[in-house]
Amino acid sequence: MTTLPVGRGSDDHVGTESPRMGAESSDPLAAALSVADFADLARTGLGEELWDWLEGGAERERTLAGNRDAFAGVAVLPRVLTDVSSCDPACSLVRSPAALPVAVAPIAYQRLFHPEGELAVARAAADSGLPYTVSTLSSVPMEEIAATGATTWFQLYWLRDKGAVLDLVQRAEAIGSEALVLTVDVPVMGRRLRDMRHGFALPPTIRAANLDGGGMSRAHERVDGGSAVAAHTASAFAPSLTWHDVEWLRERTRLPLVLKGLSHPADALRAAELGAAAVVVSNHGGRQLDGAAPSAVALPAVVEAVEGAFGESCQVLVDSGIRGGADVLRALALGASGVLLGRPVLWGLAAGGQAGCARVLSLLGEEFRHAMALAGCPDLAAVARLRTTTMPCHCGGDHQ
Ligand SMILES: Cc1cc2nc3c(=O)[nH]c(=O)nc-3n(C[C@H](O)[C@H](O)[C@H](O)COP(=O)(O)O)c2cc1C
Repeated sequence: MTTLPVGRGSDDHVGTESPRMGAESSDPLAAALSVADFADLARTGLGEELWDWLEGGAERERTLAGNRDAFAGVAVLPRVLTDVSSCDPACSLVRSPAALPVAVAPIAYQRLFHPEGELAVARAAADSGLPYTVSTLSSVPMEEIAATGATTWFQLYWLRDKGAVLDLVQRAEAIGSEALVLTVDVPVMGRRLRDMRHGFALPPTIRAANLDGGGMSRAHERVDGGSAVAAHTASAFAPSLTWHDVEWLRERTRLPLVLKGLSHPADALRAAELGAAAVVVSNHGGRQLDGAAPSAVALPAVVEAVEGAFGESCQVLVDSGIRGGADVLRALALGASGVLLGRPVLWGLAAGGQAGCARVLSLLGEEFRHAMALAGCPDLAAVARLRTTTMPCHCGGDHQ
């Protein structure tokens, strides 16, 4: 069994104390001037194994890289002379109020990155006025996360034990979750070679707090050349999940249902037909099918299909590759109603706990409001009307 070091701030964390920007400023969080700056801050403070768990994708990581390339390749045609003296980015996402068209994506086991884990991220999301998505695999029980006062959505993985699924749904309702986000792209876990090479396993102190009474699981049993988290997924998740289960679920919850992890317009249409309040175009941040279409590529056809048939009754959200306010603008210009922010929030958590997350979210808001103004958009309706074209990616492999 491994004793994987956990992130900065814990009793037993490893990694360098001073992030690169910390050498230049007494307050490295304040010195970070963009969301993307936090990648460096987080990386210097985390060991290689944890960094790879966070940043890694499946197989050859083509989709992981493609997600960034595709957003970077979306070029917006700004409007001018539109009076942008005040820009309003507030909206409603899946019926929850949001200060920006952004919700925090579900990310498993956040205490790996900071002892306060999910509590720190949820508090930062609450302070920023953004919904926080609690993962089925959160390392703090969902009831404690809800007690932070954050607007929560609950993300559901389909477990082999249907009674346990129902129990999670009822607990999510009881804590006041405002949406149920069913993740549909993990029938089995993608082959994440970085984790397999490290023999990645959870340290004994980090547990799936919502499951199995929060005890030890296969996710803690280190196997050479394999990922213990993948082994746990294989034993706990049901690869047999189908549309019939979605119908079964819909009949058993009063929460708005969101299907996360689809790319095909036909799947999005079927979700909307079944009454989904939203779909999330997502490839799980390149962690599942390597070779799946980048989200920015898949998004327009999903928007066209769902908007045409269902109008605003089913929102289209997107994740996988959002790294700053300009990406949020691009996503909305491509037709999304909002985005889920994934890895960057964890960069903030690793770099500085709640304050680090708060800084990431505040920079994201600043970047997005700036992008709105520069694109000539006083409101989100104007963002949705923006036209886009493409531009070649000149990132030279720097996909941040
Ligand atoms: C470390 C890590 C853990 C994740 N855990 C979950 C999870 O528990 N449930 C889920 O639906 N998605 C999970 N995801 C996927 C995210 O919700 C989101 O789809 C993805 O991070 C988007 O890609 P991006 O972070 O590159 O933008 C995880 C992603 C990462 C990087």
